[in-house]
Amino acid sequence: MQVLKTQKALKSAISTLKSRKGLGLVPTMGALHQGHIALVERALVQNDAVVVSIFVNPTQFNNAEDLKKYPKTLEADISLLKEASEDITVFAPSVEEIYQTDISSRKYEFNGLEKVMEGAFREGHFDGVGTIVETLLRIVEPDRAYFGEKDFQQLQIIKKLVKTKEIPVEIIGCPIVREPNGLAMSSRNERLPKSLRKEAAFIYKTLKTAKKRFGTESAKSVTDWVKKQFKGHKHLKLEYIQITDAETLTPVKRKKGKTKYRAFVAVYAADVRLIDNIALN
Ligand code: PAJ
Repeated sequence: MQVLKTQKALKSAISTLKSRKGLGLVPTMGALHQGHIALVERALVQNDAVVVSIFVNPTQFNNAEDLKKYPKTLEADISLLKEASEDITVFAPSVEEIYQTDISSRKYEFNGLEKVMEGAFREGHFDGVGTIVETLLRIVEPDRAYFGEKDFQQLQIIKKLVKTKEIPVEIIGCPIVREPNGLAMSSRNERLPKSLRKEAAFIYKTLKTAKKRFGTESAKSVTDWVKKQFKGHKHLKLEYIQITDAETLTPVKRKKGKTKYRAFVAVYAADVRLIDNIALN
């Protein structure tokens, strides 16, 4: 396994890597768990060379405290990746290597996709994500790049980004990996005290019932019900619940025809902000 810190070293390694089945990129911010590993495994099957980037991107954090507390576990990440395959190239650059002296993001428009949900509650977040993902795609030039449906809005935005910027890469979305109790795996789960981590299973449980209800009820009736459930919960605070068209992410009133729908939530468990979503079809 190669662990490279500079663009120069990575580019030189990649020039020897590209081959028949192609090159896969899995961008991450580290503190890796099985959700990340599922993306890596998919990339290993579909490509014969895989780059995993580990970079806590400062420009996508709208909250300085959140950035400060973001776990950094490079040694453990490398061990976990080694278990998946020795044949992975890890790119773990410093902030200076990526941003030099100007730690700021470019401005993007994604047809309104960036304005709702995470975009509305985390100002500038998707400009930061767009900046780092575009940068990584231009450095690595992969044939395929892998993203999780855990961050479904991010996935849609990245699909839009590569289309509008005409970046020749296939964006592959992978299903959400959950803990045995249903909680979506996340690097932030590590910050939850044990008892709260157990209680956070309530999020997915509520989403599953919302899905059932959306079969016969309007979006408003379902979201009102979800809000009520969280109001009655002692330790979890709902920031938003939104039912949208899965492609455009615009709110919908009720189920009709073959349109694909999804429900999205952001929830605070103490000071830890968790997001989750579920397909409603
Ligand atoms: P990070 O949160 O580390 O996630 C890296 C990738 O893993 C993302 O595509 C995310 O959706 C996916 N992922 C995380 N948890 C998952 C789970 N439980 N199941 C399936 N996939 C999961 O997302 C980011 O980093 C950053 O925004 C990044 C794209 C790297 C840009 O900085």
